[in-house]
This record gives sequence, C-alpha cells and structure tokens, in this order.
Amino acid sequence: MKVIVIDDEKSKRITMCDALKKAGYDSESFESPIAAMNYFEQYGADILITDIRMTGMDGFDVLQKVKSLNQRTSVIMITAYGTIQSAVEAMKMGAYDYITKPFSSDHLVHLVNKLAMYKKLEEENLNLKRKLQERYSFHNLIGKSKVMQELYDQLDTISKTDMAVLIEGESGTGKEVVANAIHYNSNRKDKPFIKLSCAVLNESILESELFGHVKGAFTGAYKDKKGRFESANEGTLFLDDVDDIPLSFQVKLLRVLQEKEFERVGGNTPIKVNVRIICASKIDLWEKVQRNEFREDLYYRIRVIPIRLPALRERKEDIPLLIDHFIKKIGREEVKFSPDSIEVLSEMDWHGNVRQLENAVNRIVAFSGSNLIKKEMIPEDILCKKEKHLPLSFNGYDSICLEKIVEELEASAVIWALQKAGGNQSKAAKFLNIKRTTFRDKMLKYKISEKS
Ligand SMILES: Nc1ncnc2c1ncn2[C@@H]1O[C@H](COP(=O)(O)OP(=O)(O)OP(=O)(O)O)[C@@H](O)[C@H]1O
Ligand SMILES: [Mg+2]
Repeated sequence: MKVIVIDDEKSKRITMCDALKKAGYDSESFESPIAAMNYFEQYGADILITDIRMTGMDGFDVLQKVKSLNQRTSVIMITAYGTIQSAVEAMKMGAYDYITKPFSSDHLVHLVNKLAMYKKLEEENLNLKRKLQERYSFHNLIGKSKVMQELYDQLDTISKTDMAVLIEGESGTGKEVVANAIHYNSNRKDKPFIKLSCAVLNESILESELFGHVKGAFTGAYKDKKGRFESANEGTLFLDDVDDIPLSFQVKLLRVLQEKEFERVGGNTPIKVNVRIICASKIDLWEKVQRNEFREDLYYRIRVIPIRLPALRERKEDIPLLIDHFIKKIGREEVKFSPDSIEVLSEMDWHGNVRQLENAVNRIVAFSGSNLIKKEMIPEDILCKKEKHLPLSFNGYDSICLEKIVEELEASAVIWALQKAGGNQSKAAKFLNIKRTTFRDKMLKYKISEKS
C-alpha cells in the first residue's frame, strides 16, 4: 500500500516515513506540498498524510486536490492543538481522520494500519459487488435468477470451445441474444457472425443462401454469389429456426457439417470452411425427431451442447431487472415504475416472453407522458394478456409455430368453456359446438381438470 507523507519539519517527516516503511508500507515523504502533488498526479497513493499549515499550499488545498484526482485516496491531517477545529473542518471535506501533534510513530502506524484494514475491506466489498453485478448480466442478457446465473456459467464455458450449440426456447426468450453472446465471448469474436433464418425458406433458396451459387446455376443467377457458410469462415454461423429446415435439405446440411466442405450450387470446386455452428429452435427439436420430421443424425450433430432457455414465466423474479434494463435501452433512465406497477407486470405470464415484456415497457413509457409509471397507466390490453394466452397480433414475431399457437388456443378455449359451464363437460362442449367425447379428449390431451 502506498503512503505519501507531507511535512515541512524534516526530522518529523523522516521519522514518520521510516516508521511506515518498517511497518511494511511503501512510503514517500515530501517537504513541499507542490512537489508531493506532482508526485501524486504521476504515481497516485492509497493514503496521504499531510500537515495543515505549510507554505505554498496548505493542508486543505492538498485535500481538495487529492480528492479531485482520486476519491479513493484517504487523507489524514496532522494538526497542532490550536488547529483541531480546522482538522474537523477537513474531515467534513472528506479527510479520513486527523492526528494531533505531538504523536509517537507507534500511534501513527496504528492509525494507518486501521485505515489500511478498512480500505482492504472496502476494496473486497467493491469487488464482491462488482462480481455480483456481473452475475446479473452476461453480454446483453439480463437476469439474476438461478437459471440465468447457471446459464452465464454455461455460456462462459461454451464460448471457449468450438462445439456446435443448439439453443431451444420459446419465442422471445433470447435465443438470438444468447447466440450473439457466445460468439462475442469466443476466440472467434473478431471474425464474422453470420445469421440465417431458415423459417419459410424452401429447399432451393436455402441451398443457395447457405452454399452460394455460380453464375448461370439457375434462372436469375446472373453472377457468382457467396453463401453464408463462406461468409462465416473462421467465425460463427447462426442458423435460426433450424426446426423449419425441410427434411429433404437436412441431409445436405449434415454432409457439410460432417465434411466441412461443399460446392456452390451449380459449381464443382470444393470449398473448405472452418465455421462454428449455433442453431436455434423455438420448439423441442427431439419431438420433431420422434415424428420423423427431423433427422436424428443431424439432431445429434447440431446438439453437441444443448441450451434450454427458460420461459419468462419460469423466472418472474427477473422481471423488475428487465424493466429497468429496457428503460435504459431506450435512453429513458429518468422514468421509474412504481412498486405496484412492477408487481402487476411481474405477476403476468408473458407468453411472448422477454420480447413481449420489452414491447410492453416501450409502449407504456412512450405513451404515459410521465416519469413515474403507476399501475393505472398500464393499458388494459397489456394487462389482459394475463388471461389471454395468445398475442393479439403477430407483429414483431420473426416466425411463429402454428401448431403450438393452435394448441394454445384450443387449450384456452377448453378452459374458458369449462369455467363458463361451471365444470359441466356436456354444457362446456355445447359452448364450443363440439361433441362431449371430443371435448373430453381435448381435456385429456391438455391435461385440463374439471376444476380448471
Ligand atoms: N435475458 C435477456 N435480457 C435482456 N434482453 C433480452 C433477454 N432475452 C431476450 N431479450 C430481448 O428480447 C427480444 C427478443 O430476443 P431474441 O430475439 O433473442 O429472442 P428469440 O428467442 O430469438 O425469439 P424468436 O424465437 O421469436 O426469434 C430482444 O429485443 C432481446 O434483446
Ligand atoms: Mg430469434
């Protein structure tokens, strides 16, 4: 720990400096406060001990200068009986303590030891706080829940490898943010990060997007074109909506992943690439494998490391933190949500997950016209989503899983009818215009009980 001593009385200064050195401090002493300040500006110090009455600059000037340069340097004032009052003033201005002349070297060392211990604790505390804060986020991911903290640890490890990652999670859970975080935390971070959404792309478009094509390969291929695999060379290729890749194309993708080599469409020169693959799926891909809609061999090839992103309703404790994050993201730090508004938003199920919450926060902030958002200012339709299991429109979605949407709708309708019919299945079936037996089948399918 570095200590600077300033005192114009030579013998006193040398005694202090020697005693501190003996006690293990790296200490420097100065007669002139100006010389001391020049030294401080250049090398800094943890602790500075200064006389009050000096020529050139007094102890107050020194204190002010030190604090303006580094708040964390602690200052001890040396004072004679007659100037105790000014030492007290100095403490008000931020000095740590004062020591009254005459004092023994032991006394001074004792005081500095106490201060050094305090500073060490303060430093440790700061480090812990920093660490704690780190765990509240990872790149652009926010969340302090246990699942998120575990995810950050997992992402840290994954980023150091080149293995293929499959990210599974409902829409809006942050799959793309995770893919970015892996790439930008990896050794490939200075190389390209290329994304391709495989949703709604037919086989031939997918093929030319991924592998590129040569001039004349098909009608409209006016010139040679690089594919995403080539563009991503030495970097990362993020295949979003991998669950949408047509079965017929899957074998071609598998071949490239195995051989790390391909040809452009219409070309016959083999191209070698070194690409890390990250895939994302909004449904449980294994279910597709079981339905023979996704090749099992490709599944294992892309799922070397699986990541399952939790739905927002599984980590509701992160909602307040996320609200805060989104306010900052749109540069409206001055806006605060009242505790009851946070509570009501935290209780909702957010079937559109983080994306839906982000859109809601943006809307509330934009339209409230106030810097304090109260519960009453949250629009009805945002709150209604608590009951409605479906987004009212699909704006803002890159893609949707029709099957899942239909199932969710069906399940909600069954619950609605049952509640309306007070648990009477025949009556509930009538509300939906379906047969009682069909109604019963749907209840079983969605594991809905009569008390729902
Ligand atoms: N943990 C998180 N912390 C902060 N922001 C997040 C988090 N997760 C998601 N977001 C934000 O939510 C939005 C949706 O995230 P993202 O696009 O990564 O979701 P997704 O899982 O890829 O959704 P989809 O399946 O619909 O493509 C983005 O604006 C993203 O910044
Ligand atoms: Mg996405």
